[in-house]
Amino acid sequence: MPTLDVMSIRKDFPILSREVNGKPLIYLDNGATSQKPKQVIDAIANYYQQDNSNVHRGIHHLSAIATDQFEHVRKKISSYINANHDHEVIFTKGTTDGINLVTATYGKMNVGKGDEVIVSAMEHHSNIVPWQMLCEEKGAKLKVIPINLKGELIMEEYDELLSSKTKIVAVNHISNTLGTINPAREIINKAHHIGAKVLVDGAQAMPHQKVDMQALDADWYVFSAHKMFGPTGVGVLYGKEDILNNMPPYQGGGDMIKDVTFEKTTYNDLPHKLEAGTPNIAGVIGLGATVEYLNSLDFEQVNQHEKELLNYVTEQLKAIDGLQIIGNAQNKTSVLSFLVEGTHPSDLGAILDQFGIAIRTGHHCTQPLMDFYNIPGTARASFAFYNTKEEIDALKKGIVRALEMLL
Ligand SMILES: Cc1ncc(COP(=O)(O)O)c(C=O)c1O
Repeated sequence: MPTLDVMSIRKDFPILSREVNGKPLIYLDNGATSQKPKQVIDAIANYYQQDNSNVHRGIHHLSAIATDQFEHVRKKISSYINANHDHEVIFTKGTTDGINLVTATYGKMNVGKGDEVIVSAMEHHSNIVPWQMLCEEKGAKLKVIPINLKGELIMEEYDELLSSKTKIVAVNHISNTLGTINPAREIINKAHHIGAKVLVDGAQAMPHQKVDMQALDADWYVFSAHKMFGPTGVGVLYGKEDILNNMPPYQGGGDMIKDVTFEKTTYNDLPHKLEAGTPNIAGVIGLGATVEYLNSLDFEQVNQHEKELLNYVTEQLKAIDGLQIIGNAQNKTSVLSFLVEGTHPSDLGAILDQFGIAIRTGHHCTQPLMDFYNIPGTARASFAFYNTKEEIDALKKGIVRALEMLL
């Protein structure tokens, strides 16, 4: 298999050739947000320069073009994730918005007193708090699938948690802090077996994998464009047609209605029923260009390259005295959380920034996970397909120099 042509890919990402603090930028904070190829930036600029208009409303030329482009992206995404129908793709503001949409609609209608919702110990706050709010409001219980020290879900404990009281299971596909790739298909099968529905938070999976909704069989799958090389402020909620049809509207307003009188409003069909108001048209068009870009890559090569990066960074950083890696799952993506004895992650992050190296430090919106490991936070280097082994060498050198200054 030919290897990924990283050098030519890097040329597509203008920001990768800038300097930070007088040093070439080494961007290792892809878990927070990824960089955007010029194809995506150009698509957004072109929309504003040539086609800017509102969608689904006007009969004039530009509105027709904008609507066509917008709806064409829905088709592209539907085909990219192998949905059954285009209208199973609902545009949102992002992962957080998608989860809140489900808790506020399906959740409110179907979760009641004494029912249970299951999440995992490694969820991002956005896949904890909305469920917690729902459970508080409804008198339901939030149950948590525990993890082992390597950062893997304990599936036997999950089996024990599932019961006739379980209404919804909400888990991430890939952990943003640990990099753990969860056995999503197995989680879904087990939940379906007892009649529960499953929401999968795919925020960290979409930049690393092609995800197939038919193979996965999730009831809902949510993701953000900005973590998969697309723009901020836009994302997708995929849902199975029958489930989306039975969900009440999330928000009221334009686009989501068929007819409005002061006595009664009738709601629009999918997908518009769940998309009130003017959407992020430029963002959706940018997401369309993102999917086109991802389609131009060979994901086998991408996976191979990212696996090599993960192995290399693990090996290199392990060699640093006192450095501890948090998250050692067998099945793991190219994310490395670590701590160095005697240093605070934020001091390390601040010094690395002086060398032009961008990493993330803190709790990564996973405070319960930090509590599990009994740590305040970690330093996290998260990689994308445009990262290189040379950047890992620079990271290692940067950490060693930082430790000389801190210890
Ligand atoms: C696993 C996971 N879920 C959800 C989110 C929230 O995504 P957004 O802020 O784009 O809504 C993130 C962002 O870091 C994440 O990593």
